[in-house]
Amino acid sequence: MAFQNPKTPQSIYEPEFVEKLFNEMSLTYERMNTITSFGFSNRWRRQCVFELAIQPGQTVVDLMTGMGETWAYICQRIGPHGVLVGVDFSEGMLQYAHQKRHRKRFSQHTIHIYKQNVLAGTLPDQSADHVVVSFGLKTFNPKQIAQLAQEINRILKPGGQFSCIEVSVPRSTLLRALYLFYLRRIIPVLGALFLSNPDTYRMLGIYCSQFKDTQQAQQLFQHAGLSCRTTSYFFGCASGIVGNKPI
Ligand SMILES: C[S@@+](CC[C@H](N)C(=O)[O-])C[C@H]1O[C@@H](n2cnc3c(N)ncnc32)[C@H](O)[C@@H]1O
Repeated sequence: MAFQNPKTPQSIYEPEFVEKLFNEMSLTYERMNTITSFGFSNRWRRQCVFELAIQPGQTVVDLMTGMGETWAYICQRIGPHGVLVGVDFSEGMLQYAHQKRHRKRFSQHTIHIYKQNVLAGTLPDQSADHVVVSFGLKTFNPKQIAQLAQEINRILKPGGQFSCIEVSVPRSTLLRALYLFYLRRIIPVLGALFLSNPDTYRMLGIYCSQFKDTQQAQQLFQHAGLSCRTTSYFFGCASGIVGNKPI
């Protein structure tokens, strides 16, 4: 069934709702993402991955992998003997991820793609050297973020590191007003121009306004037993959580 507007404010966090949203956006996601972020999204993904001391041959789990937007930065670091595990539940997004896996630049790499809810708890305990979450936090409410933090703690090896990044509402009053105007008013219009459903792109503004930044999430990660700090990118237009599972 196609995407329909949310019935209640809380229903935007239901997995079925989020899955349908990304299935619908998958046709235009990559193009829209690059254009509407003025190219910043790729720069932030690279910065997110480069927070980690990834060594050749290691295993990196990319939760909410989408179309594999972070893979180039991860594969560059793990080399041909490393393993990349990408997890996402959107068939639409994963269809492009599967196509990407067969591109020449990834042909030397071991990439496993799993279609499942990242909160399903099916990845093996202590199987990851590093975990990456790029732009996947905002569609979770605080309870789900707490579950995600527990899941990251479970799948990381002791001493393993994680890095998350998310679009955020800047703290400066002027920048915040401009940024929210852009997210709420301009992005849906761009979505319509690119022959997409403007309602889906309007949802991104709603998620970002609710999420704000990674400060609250950092407390939930600490509560799950992870050591971490927040990071800020481009005057707070994106923020992150970087840390490790204690040994
Ligand atoms: C904004 S996209 C980010 C994709 C990619 N990581 C990037 O950097 O662009 C968020 C992705 O998270 C996925 N997602 C959201 N909640 C999920 C969940 N509970 N389990 C699995 N995938 C989820 C969506 O299907 C979507 O592909």
